[in-house]
Amino acid sequence: MTRFTVNGQPIHYKMDPATPLLWALRDSSNLTGTKYGCGAGLCGACTVHVDGAAIRSCQVPIGSIEGSFVTTIEALARDRSHPVQQAWVAENLPQCGYCQPGMIMAAAALLEKNHAPTDEEIDAAMTNICRCGTYPRIRRAIQRAGR
Ligand code: FES
Repeated sequence: MTRFTVNGQPIHYKMDPATPLLWALRDSSNLTGTKYGCGAGLCGACTVHVDGAAIRSCQVPIGSIEGSFVTTIEALARDRSHPVQQAWVAENLPQCGYCQPGMIMAAAALLEKNHAPTDEEIDAAMTNICRCGTYPRIRRAIQRAGR
């Protein structure tokens, strides 16, 4: 049994402690906003926050985050007031949309540390992959959200 807090709720997971956090969130907690892309830590579609840091949940066994605080896109986007979400809407950002929950979580973690990132800092921090190539709009949205 592994215990940690997800979106403010303490949860006991009865899954194998080696289970990736991505699958605990999707299959046990029905939090399907966190996406599966590569399963290899490369694409960032599965990005969530653990204790405030952006992590790739496909690479994190639940047994390694006992007692931690996990935040998913469902909590960040709950009341539609988060500045990153508002900037995403203002920039009409998503195309197919699949990577965007992970992008938003990565952007929110970046802005927590740096409210006015340069294009270069955004490119260095945002290593998530978007097949539609929305990167210019992502840069604009992050700069808008930081204002
Ligand atoms: Fe986790 Fe691609 S699904 S990084």
